[in-house]
Amino acid sequence: MKYPDTDKNSQNLSREVHVWHVVPESVRDPAILQHCRDILDPEEREKLGRFIRPDDGHHYLVSHALLRSVLSYYADVAPADWRFAHGKHGRPEIQPDMQSPLRFNLTHTRGLAACVVTRDVDCGIDAEQLHKRSNPLGVAQRMFSPLELEALGQKRGTDFLEYFYQGWTLREAYVKARGIGISFPTRQLCFNTEGERISVKFDDSIDDTERNWYFQLIRPNATHIIALALRDNPDEHRHVIVSEWGQGQWGQVWQRGQI
Ligand SMILES: CC(C)(COP(=O)(O)OP(=O)(O)OC[C@H]1O[C@@H](n2cnc3c(N)ncnc32)[C@H](O)[C@@H]1OP(=O)(O)O)[C@@H](O)C(=O)NCCC(=O)NCCS
Repeated sequence: MKYPDTDKNSQNLSREVHVWHVVPESVRDPAILQHCRDILDPEEREKLGRFIRPDDGHHYLVSHALLRSVLSYYADVAPADWRFAHGKHGRPEIQPDMQSPLRFNLTHTRGLAACVVTRDVDCGIDAEQLHKRSNPLGVAQRMFSPLELEALGQKRGTDFLEYFYQGWTLREAYVKARGIGISFPTRQLCFNTEGERISVKFDDSIDDTERNWYFQLIRPNATHIIALALRDNPDEHRHVIVSEWGQGQWGQVWQRGQI
C-alpha cells in the first residue's frame, strides 16, 4: 500500500486550506469502526461511553476519528498519538509540546462531520443541516444584525432557509475561529453574502479587523451547508480545497499508524 506523502501534504498547506468531510452514517464497516475506537484517547473513549443514544455515540466516534486521521495525513504522527489542549472556552488545539504548525477546527451535525486544517492560520468551521426549524425569526432576532434581519424577513421558502443558515453558520465559524464562547454578541456582526466575496462588518464594540478575515460557504451536498472562517494575510488568502474523506483513506492512515 502506498502511504500518503505527509511532507508534501503538509507543504501544500502553506498556500492552501483543506476541508475534509464525511457522512458519519455511511461509516459502517466493523473493522473501520474498531480502528476509530482504537485511535481515541482515554478521555474521548470515556465520553463515547457516556452517550445514551447509539446514533450520538456513532457520530462522536466518527467525527473524532476523522479529525485524528486527517491530522495524521499531514504529519508523521499516528492518529492515536495526537494530544489536545483546550482553551478557556473549550476550543481544542494540538498540545504545544507537540510543536506542530497545524491548526484545525471540527464540526458535526446530523448527516455530516467536517474539519478544517491549516498551517498557522486561525480557523473556524460550522456545518448545519438545512431543515425547517421552529421560530427561525426568533433566533435571528437574537443573533443577526438589524440589516440581515430585514433581508431575511423579505425572503421566502428555500431562499429564507438558505439565508438563515448562511448567517447562522458564518457566525458560528467566526466565533469558533476566535475560540470564544456562546456569550459572544453575534448581533454585532453583519455579513454580506450577496456579493462576489463574503464580507463582514463589525460593530465598533468589536475589537477586530474585517479585512483580515476570509469567509467561504460550502455546499458538500444538497442538504448541508458548511461555513469557513479564516484569519489570514489579507493580501494573499489561501486557496480552500474541499474533499470527502473516503472509505479507503481510513485504511491508508490506519496502516501507517500501525507501523
Ligand atoms: C462550543 C461551540 C463553539 C460549538 O458549536 P456547535 O455548533 O454546538 O458544535 P460544532 O459541531 O460546530 O463544533 C463542536 C466542536 O468544536 C470544537 N470546539 C469546542 N469548543 C470550541 C470553541 N470554544 N471554539 C472553537 N471550537 C470549539 C470541538 O472540537 C467540538 O467538538 P466536540 O464537541 O465533539 O468535542 C458553541 O457552542 C458556541 O459557543 N457557539 C457559538 C456561539 C453562538 O452565539 N452561536 C450562535 C450563532 S447564530
